[in-house]
Amino acid sequence: MAVPNIADGKLLYEESCAKCHGSDYYQGLSVDEITNTVELSHWVDTCSMHFNLGWNDQDIEDTVHYLNREFFLIDE
Ligand code: HEC
Repeated sequence: MAVPNIADGKLLYEESCAKCHGSDYYQGLSVDEITNTVELSHWVDTCSMHFNLGWNDQDIEDTVHYLNREFFLIDE
């Protein structure tokens, strides 16, 4: 079981995701639509696959936990 690394998640997100999800071009993530971390990891998975980032499970896990801490605040 991978231990999430929030600092890595932040870096990964800033490198690969923030250009869409933290800019004027595509504002923010719909916090209302995501109610659990399974949904959140599904989206992180979808977006990282879609843009061919070649992320492994650890990268996804790190980013899910970073996003949750930063934006979603879902209880796990
Ligand atoms: C090229 C632009 C782009 C990049 C890069 C991108 N996304 Fe997305 N993402 C989108 C779009 C467009 C949607 C669909 C929005 C919708 O349907 O509301 C989306 C949806 C999402 C959602 C679902 C919540 C929502 O806002 O609807 C999450 C979570 C998400 N992306 C996370 C990520 C993560 C994590 C990364 C980095 C691996 C990433 N995205 C990279 C454009 C992007």
